[in-house]
Amino acid sequence: MRILMVCLGNICRSPLAEGIMKTKAAESGLNWEVDSAGTGYWHSGEPPDRRSIQIARKNGIDITDQRARQFRAADFEKFDKIFVMDVNNRKDVLVQAKDETQRQKVVLMLDLLFPGQDRSVPDPYYDDNGFEEVFGMLDAACTKFVEAALSPK
Ligand code: 4NP
Repeated sequence: MRILMVCLGNICRSPLAEGIMKTKAAESGLNWEVDSAGTGYWHSGEPPDRRSIQIARKNGIDITDQRARQFRAADFEKFDKIFVMDVNNRKDVLVQAKDETQRQKVVLMLDLLFPGQDRSVPDPYYDDNGFEEVFGMLDAACTKFVEAALSPK
């Protein structure tokens, strides 16, 4: 399976989501490809925010090799699932979908935990203390997704 994590800047939330999902998939023997992107272009080429690097490291995950890039319509062809961090990301990604098959690939990250409630992963960019909470949400959501993939259908 190919999974894309999407937020606004691709420096805070989606790099964490990428690192967490990659780690959990690998630990479970799942051969998944996981990438991330931002709907905005401002941080393209940059490594993750140092606060995301720190909270990941604290949890045993190294995300320093990641570099930000902007989401593009071609991502709809490459990826099977596109997890968006908030409802604005969802809107910005969905307008680039060309048909229903592509729209169906887009899932709000917290729908994994709270289906249908339109809950967003809060943007921690202006909140130094928000990273711990964001990590916890993403960790729980990724755990749920990996467990669902492993459980017999
Ligand atoms: P992210 O956080 O979308 O989780 O990567 C942000 C990073 C940068 C900005 C906004 C959100 N910014 O406005 O530059």
